[in-house]
Amino acid sequence: MPQQFIADTGNLYADLSEYYDQFCAEVDYARQCEFAERAFACFASSGGREYLDLACGTGQHLADMQRRGFVASGLDNSAHMLAQAQLRCPDAQLLLCDIAAFEQVAQFDLITCFLYSIHYSRPTAALAQTLRRAWLALKPGGLFLFNAVDVAGIRNDKRVTTQLQHEDASLRFESGWEYRGEGDVLDLFLHITKESAADTRCWSDHHTMTAVTFPQLRLMLEEVGFQVTLLEHDYDVLKPLGGKAFNAIVVATKS
Ligand SMILES: C[S@@+](CC[C@H](N)C(=O)[O-])C[C@H]1O[C@@H](n2cnc3c(N)ncnc32)[C@H](O)[C@@H]1O
Repeated sequence: MPQQFIADTGNLYADLSEYYDQFCAEVDYARQCEFAERAFACFASSGGREYLDLACGTGQHLADMQRRGFVASGLDNSAHMLAQAQLRCPDAQLLLCDIAAFEQVAQFDLITCFLYSIHYSRPTAALAQTLRRAWLALKPGGLFLFNAVDVAGIRNDKRVTTQLQHEDASLRFESGWEYRGEGDVLDLFLHITKESAADTRCWSDHHTMTAVTFPQLRLMLEEVGFQVTLLEHDYDVLKPLGGKAFNAIVVATKS
């Protein structure tokens, strides 16, 4: 009998959230957190270890930063993702909220937003609001750390693929950004294929994100009041960004 093939749509952060950690199987969370701790030691001067992760997802950064002695809080607009973060980090404070809408004031020493999630603030006005919220939520001397992509570096034909075996199924994840050539929309296309003895299932997901250039992003951060340094997108070194790079780690301090 021919194997059944089922094609569907789904949302990686909702009905498909059980696959999220496998989707990120190749993300080195420990390395990113080690980098965050190093950057925090170099750039922050607020004195405490209160930590907030924006778009915290299933809480992988929260758990690692707790092990490093930070008091962790996480924020995400997906109840599905937060439910998993809650299981992973029962002691963390978790907030179901849009990253442009949290209202804490002068509470945190370190705020992070990894895996390009800052681009989920849509449209550009919401992104500006997120940066402002982060500035308000930091104590003086606090650090806002996130990674970002300059739209000038988006290649519509570039895809990232991860393949792994999970239980008795073979999983394949494919993701890629596409830029329409004008405007501030950055499309993210995701495809998941799960092949088991019984059937092959395949889901497609599409997210709209915000496209910015690094000069625009720097200006938006500076307008809020941040001091900004762009670093190479390399979690092994703290190195200023070279001229032609389109991925960066953004260090923004509230002086
Ligand atoms: C790529 S995942 C990153 C999760 C986590 N930071 C990590 O590195 O594994 C993006 C996360 O952003 C969340 N998200 C998307 N748009 C958001 C928004 N506007 N406000 C808050 N969270 C959002 C999603 O629910 C998802 O958990």
